[in-house]
Amino acid sequence: MQKRPNVYVTRMIPEAPITVLKEHCDVEINPDDRPLTRQELLAKVRGRDAVLSLLTDIIDDEVFLAAGPQCKVFANYAVGFNNVDVAAATKRGVIITNTPGVLDNATAEIAWALLFAVARRVAEADKFARAGLFQGWGPMMFLGQEIMGKTLGVIGTGRIGSKMARGAQGFGMRVLCCDEFKKTELEKDLGATYVDKDTLLKESDYVSLHTPLMPSTTHLISDREFKLMKKTAILINSSRGPIVDEKALVRALQAGEIWGAGLDVFENEPAIEPELRTMDNVVILPHIASATIEARTQMGMIAVRNIIKVLNGEAPETCVNPEVLKNS
Ligand SMILES: NC(=O)c1ccc[n+]([C@@H]2O[C@H](COP(=O)([O-])OP(=O)(O)OC[C@H]3O[C@@H](n4cnc5c(N)ncnc54)[C@H](O)[C@@H]3O)[C@@H](O)[C@H]2O)c1
Repeated sequence: MQKRPNVYVTRMIPEAPITVLKEHCDVEINPDDRPLTRQELLAKVRGRDAVLSLLTDIIDDEVFLAAGPQCKVFANYAVGFNNVDVAAATKRGVIITNTPGVLDNATAEIAWALLFAVARRVAEADKFARAGLFQGWGPMMFLGQEIMGKTLGVIGTGRIGSKMARGAQGFGMRVLCCDEFKKTELEKDLGATYVDKDTLLKESDYVSLHTPLMPSTTHLISDREFKLMKKTAILINSSRGPIVDEKALVRALQAGEIWGAGLDVFENEPAIEPELRTMDNVVILPHIASATIEARTQMGMIAVRNIIKVLNGEAPETCVNPEVLKNS
């Protein structure tokens, strides 16, 4: 009988994809609900045929070396793959896959949830009411900003940014977009206008970030950009933390250069700039944008199908370094 492939999963994900994986492979899963330490990761990948990794795992050449030359694929349980040294993987012939598409709704929904929460001061008012401070309706209590009819600026109109932009239609908003690649359907369907980043920042009431994290997008929003924004503007980041210069964000909020921020991701996650945690005009979420049952299950299904396909000698569905496939 042929030996079953040996797969390591760096942290528990929903049961359904794991069940499918177990039908085809011997599977070991990190039993603790926490990221592996570096030493644990290096030890646990050793001798595996495939690894299902998370965005909290740094997957670099040392990890590929530790895994060994038999290891064919790292299936990253995220659409973003900034935690993986893709060039090193390609050099070693290791296939890297991600999970695009299935978390677009979930992520756009969190961006909208943050936008509403900051504009209408939902978290702040909730905290107030829970603290027993509600003494009755007040004409000046928690005055926020309306969303309908305002201008939404979307930076990065890929899969998730497009979903975000489409949500604006229901609120009768003007939509400004910034992306090297124009989506004509957003112009046609929403009357969206593509502009450069500075114009978007100057004219938008709400700015939502949806680019991948790359060298070119690191600190895409910093001191200069905050100075361009409206004093009433709200910044929403559900992409990756380092896209916003977090210290510059603190400075901008302290100086009143913008009105507020809604953040799902942080520059040095899980650390958060301490000042942000004290500000009532900032809503902070612990990186939960894709945390719906639907998205997390489907992310697992894609990752598992990719692993099974690669181990069967087939091309995976979503490969981020397809040049490896050409050479194999
Ligand atoms: N918070 C979360 O849990 C969470 C969940 C899902 C995705 N994300 C992040 O969201 C990112 C986007 O995901 P996606 O599936 O929409 O990716 P995508 O590749 O479909 O879209 C990204 C878009 O950004 C554009 N872009 C790149 N650099 C740009 C720049 N400098 N200015 C303007 N646009 C630029 C690209 O051209 C592309 O259209 C992911 O890379 C991931 O890091 C975060």
